[in-house]
Amino acid sequence: MDASVAGDRWEWTQERYRHGIFSHAISSERRRLELLEKLLDGHTRARFEALGLRAGQEVLEVGGGGGSVARWLAGKGARVTVTDLDTTFLGDLAEQGVRVLRHDMYTEDFPPGSFDAVHARYVVLHLPDPDRAVARLAGWLRPGGVLLVEEPASFPVMDSPHPAYRTVMRAFRTHLEESVGSDTGWARTLPVPLEKAGLVGIGLDARLQLVSGGDDEAQWWRLNLEQSRSAMVAAGLVEDAVFDAAYQELAAPDFHDLSLAVFTAWGRKPR
Ligand SMILES: C[S@@+](CC[C@H](N)C(=O)[O-])C[C@H]1O[C@@H](n2cnc3c(N)ncnc32)[C@H](O)[C@@H]1O
Repeated sequence: MDASVAGDRWEWTQERYRHGIFSHAISSERRRLELLEKLLDGHTRARFEALGLRAGQEVLEVGGGGGSVARWLAGKGARVTVTDLDTTFLGDLAEQGVRVLRHDMYTEDFPPGSFDAVHARYVVLHLPDPDRAVARLAGWLRPGGVLLVEEPASFPVMDSPHPAYRTVMRAFRTHLEESVGSDTGWARTLPVPLEKAGLVGIGLDARLQLVSGGDDEAQWWRLNLEQSRSAMVAAGLVEDAVFDAAYQELAAPDFHDLSLAVFTAWGRKPR
């Protein structure tokens, strides 16, 4: 991508991400991030363990959100740096010895070779050029260091048999693309962006998240939808009544469906 185009789009994306539907100032955003952590942390921890996380390693967590991964890494004895555009929910981590930085992983740097491990989860798809973002993350690794990227793709929900859920999710994807600039198909290109970034020992894992009436995934979706509802209705993407119907589906005891597909890719910087 041409640098000036990336720059322009970045201004647009940062503005939309920090102040838009996922703003940390929205009263339910903390809860939305907590639910995400509950849904994803088990897999993240297992993958870190499998990749040989050791006490004393320098680990960077970008877009740390609610901070659960950084907290867990610090508990394992890693020397942790956690970044976010908005560090509101990360403040208490400093007391645990974690370096907390308000930092744009897309435009601000670290010195090359700073970290033994770099982790990004549900962040890269929101950036203007996700491949470029992966290359930046890889550049901050030491020789032998590992990059771990976990990102969702939305295709499983697009042809749900549940009509209101399907309709509102299709509209939500359009809204994400138009309001934040997210690419909900990018994760499916993994692990090629890591190969292009020069990493070796590449691995890939993919799984489908499930959603059932009233469970954590259903509650997470409801918050995502509720935070976007007025903007989506105002944009004419979907009618207000469809939200209520989707919420009813998501709360029903007999509701079971697929949610997002989560792609996890990892690779090491050559020694
Ligand atoms: C969907 S949340 C995921 C939070 C966390 N990674 C998790 O999986 O629990 C995305 C987070 O990335 C942050 N973020 C978005 N773009 C960023 C950027 N360019 N640099 C740093 N953080 C960013 C947001 O502020 C938000 O906290």
